[in-house]
Amino acid sequence: MLLTSFALAAATAVSSVQALANPPVTDGKVVGGYVLFGDPMKLKLLADNAANLPINRVWLSFVRPDLYYEPGSNTLVGVGLNYNNTQADYGFAEIKRYVQKLQAGGVEVFLAMGGWDYNCWPWSYSYYSIFNYGSTTPTYQSTIQKYGGGQITGCNEGNQFCYSCEPPSNGNTFDSFTIFPEPGNSATWKQAQDYVTKNSKMPESPVWHPELVGGAKYTTEKNGVVTVPGSNVWAKKGRDPYQDLVYVAKDLGLDGVDIDYEEFWHADMFKTDSSAQKNCGNGCTLYQTVYKFSAILQDVRINIKNIYPSLKLSTAASAAGAWAGTWWGGNHKGLTLNMVPSYPDLVQFLGTGANAGGWNIMTYDLSNSAVNCPPSPASCTLDGQVNFYMAQYTAAGIVANVGYEIGTPAYPPPAVDAAHAMPLSNSLTGAIISATQPYYKGGFFWELFKPQASPNDIHVTTLARVLCKAVLGANTPRCSGSIPILANDILPGSSDTVPIGPPGPTPSGPPPCAEPYSPTQQYTTAMKFSYNGYNYMCSYWVAAGTQPGQPGLPQQGLCSSNGAVTSTLAPPPSSTTAGPKPTTSAVQTSSPVTLPPASTANGTPCSTPWVAGTAYNGAAQVSYKGFNWVTNWWTNSEPSTTDSSWKQLSACGGGSGPTTTAAQPPTSASVIVDPTKPATTANGGAIFNGASCSTFGAWGCNFQCQCSYVTVNGAFALQYQCNPSSARC
Ligand SMILES: *[C@@H]1O[C@H](CO)[C@@H](O)[C@H](O)[C@H]1NC(C)=O
Repeated sequence: MLLTSFALAAATAVSSVQALANPPVTDGKVVGGYVLFGDPMKLKLLADNAANLPINRVWLSFVRPDLYYEPGSNTLVGVGLNYNNTQADYGFAEIKRYVQKLQAGGVEVFLAMGGWDYNCWPWSYSYYSIFNYGSTTPTYQSTIQKYGGGQITGCNEGNQFCYSCEPPSNGNTFDSFTIFPEPGNSATWKQAQDYVTKNSKMPESPVWHPELVGGAKYTTEKNGVVTVPGSNVWAKKGRDPYQDLVYVAKDLGLDGVDIDYEEFWHADMFKTDSSAQKNCGNGCTLYQTVYKFSAILQDVRINIKNIYPSLKLSTAASAAGAWAGTWWGGNHKGLTLNMVPSYPDLVQFLGTGANAGGWNIMTYDLSNSAVNCPPSPASCTLDGQVNFYMAQYTAAGIVANVGYEIGTPAYPPPAVDAAHAMPLSNSLTGAIISATQPYYKGGFFWELFKPQASPNDIHVTTLARVLCKAVLGANTPRCSGSIPILANDILPGSSDTVPIGPPGPTPSGPPPCAEPYSPTQQYTTAMKFSYNGYNYMCSYWVAAGTQPGQPGLPQQGLCSSNGAVTSTLAPPPSSTTAGPKPTTSAVQTSSPVTLPPASTANGTPCSTPWVAGTAYNGAAQVSYKGFNWVTNWWTNSEPSTTDSSWKQLSACGGGSGPTTTAAQPPTSASVIVDPTKPATTANGGAIFNGASCSTFGAWGCNFQCQCSYVTVNGAFALQYQCNPSSARC
């Protein structure tokens, strides 16, 4: 019965693009997989079996973010899909035929832009992401340690900057990599930039980088001149890759396009970091990457409206993308979360409604190393982490789909840290399908032809069937179908039994906003307030006037005030979009992309280790016995949960993290005060900004007051605090 209606939909679909008004995916119920080229046989196998695939969507992957496609040209020569580059049109006509067959079988077809290699700048990723966060991370071990002898200077173009993006076994060349450009020549890109700037509620102006075009020489403070990876043909032709993505989708008759944005290097290179060591000592912000990612999505959205209004837009998003709280660098934690207050309509465009292709969360490539585990009570198992990360999207009010991965995960790096990898087994699949999947409309997996690495890994057909039944209903005929295989890749011992357990707890949406922030209020431990659409909770005593998000006042996530997002910040002024024109010749690549969309949900890096006998001021952060700690006030005692001068923070490990301010004036903002408020009370005592500070730093039983450096409107100032509390003496 159902098969008949699929067949009917199919017949219409072939005849015209209009048939897409009745798409096979209804109400966001999508079960789909990525297909990575390479081997063109993959598409033929899928198309020939379309009606019996236990999926209703495929994502063809990946096209270059610096692609060009002239409408009506019917060739993929500038697209970088690497389907079959020996064909005169690079496979355009063949793909179009197979797309029609898939649609006739009730399967939507999307084209995905990006993926790991088309997001990775080896130099920047090595210098800004890997090197910066300490030598103990598995990523450092598998790259800078292994190929640079532990020296960043040992990483160069010859060794692809210590093979930071891909190991040598992948066979990549410099031309395998590229980045997402900022096409300053494009009218719709400029519109997208204006939208991003005008609606921003983030306390920082966008700084655009149109100069980062493939082949351009980029002068860096780190190590002189480096070459930007990628192609500049789009720029020479005066095209906009995000517009051309829509054009090629239209000419191929596709259902949707996908932006798989994973520029970790960009977040680290353009982060705002107030710590002197530039290691996110007090946490960093990735607002510039929020701006870039939002502009890319908005440019695609504008072009969908202008060129092909039925086209859907999806994105493969970082598992940690909706996670609130301090960002320590090295991943895309909070990238999506930061979009919500400023660009709710854009977030919605992908999540619900006629053009929604989905927020597809890459809840894989997660490590069970203690430093990577989400905070208690979340468990560190794969299903526990998937549940936690998906719940963050719900808490941010974002409609999202669950991600699954076949075979060996891309992270942690198999060469040095296979022990912490969590490949998807049948039982883990069962746990995710039972406890988490019921609360999300759809699910997807990477990748349709990726083999199992061991018989313990779930087979793609087993996964697709169980996910299909969970999403579309147990009696849906296509859910009993099979994913075709290229070779006999079902390993001996594989089972098709997936144990289904009870559903997990229902994730909750954004909580109501707490009382608005007041700069004159003295916040003490556990007090809550809201600011700019987010809730905050005071974790230890800080001076009145301390800005939300500074140490002591961590963000708790988005909040909802009558469904609207509140703002107390004026939008930043508009910024320049001009930049130097690319000057070097094109780098046109034809190498295969060989890694899945990766998602690294790093845990909390350790602060500088505690040093016995050292005097630490209030709000100093250290690491000790596997945890980060913060001082509640001046102390020289050993960190301990029974010592009230110390507060235990989360478990830590890996890179360097927050740095101590022990017995030293902080060189960066540790407390921000409002200079217009000359005096206020704190714990019953007084704070005098700019008052004479003669007894710097000392704050103990004999010193009821202390002086410390603070940042006021970007300039250093002295703050004199008196705390009459005698509880500690
Ligand atoms: C690629 O296309 C060429 C030309 O049509 C064809 O001869 C060849 O078999 C194709 N390659 C694969 C792997 O299908």
